[in-house]
Amino acid sequence: MEVVIRPNADAATDLVARVIARELRDNPRLVMGLATGRTMESVYARLVQMHREEGLDFSAGRTFNLDEYVGLSSNHANSYRHYMNHHLFLQVNIDLQNTHLPDGMAADLVAECANYERLIAKNGGIDLQLLGIGQNGHLGFNEPLSALRSRTRVKILSPVTRAQNVPLFPRPELVPHRAITMGVGSILDCRCCILLATGEEKAAIVAKAVEGPITSMISATALQLHPECTLILDEAAGSQLKESDYYHWVFENQPEWEPFRAVSSPIAKSGFQAKRQLEKQSVEAMSDVLE
Ligand code: GLP
Repeated sequence: MEVVIRPNADAATDLVARVIARELRDNPRLVMGLATGRTMESVYARLVQMHREEGLDFSAGRTFNLDEYVGLSSNHANSYRHYMNHHLFLQVNIDLQNTHLPDGMAADLVAECANYERLIAKNGGIDLQLLGIGQNGHLGFNEPLSALRSRTRVKILSPVTRAQNVPLFPRPELVPHRAITMGVGSILDCRCCILLATGEEKAAIVAKAVEGPITSMISATALQLHPECTLILDEAAGSQLKESDYYHWVFENQPEWEPFRAVSSPIAKSGFQAKRQLEKQSVEAMSDVLE
């Protein structure tokens, strides 16, 4: 796991969008795992801007969202399909046929969950998974006690999660009680993942997710098991981390981040594979010195 702390929410959001853009440029058929929530709105706004101003091309990209409310149709104003269409899909040149969310209106929800897993596998798995974090540390809607190896399934939303989502609904009682969500195990299958968290209200749960013990009570702690996971935070969300000086030092010194340190630097050409190559070279160079 790597933690990057940027000075403010705009810089953190910009970094996330630029990493996604770089991966999409490297692999136009990128399979993107996407998230919803207020934090992601500015990421999608930045991607839309890149599409308009820099020609960022989504035409061959494929997407799978983490979750969808049970009982809300795709054109319901509070469904995640509506959110994605509104914030991203209808504003870029993606083929809607290549965008996927679980169907919260499916007559057979169990079959729908199994089908969603099959569809992800058929597309070769998720290359880059974008994640937010709930107040209780959930990923997607993996509420406390979600098994660390869980797959896509229906979850009952916790009172904390329902309360967190009340501002997005016209009335509190309209927040659904259930959602289909990719499981913690399904999320961990992705090739690399980026979690974005901003704001002081996320500071305590981010500290637990990064520096606390792995527990099914907080699904985000499972990311400690992922070999290619980066958390991108603003100073406020990173304010309760004990090792923040070290995380800053890594960002300043890790060659992979060089193209991203200056806000106006050009989009890096190489992807996460290049990071691995650089790490391999550093280990080899270190071995040479030690011999
Ligand atoms: C919902 C989504 C999560 C997301 C969370 C964060 O619960 N299911 O995937 O991480 O919202 O929301 P926000 O960015 O609004 O804090």
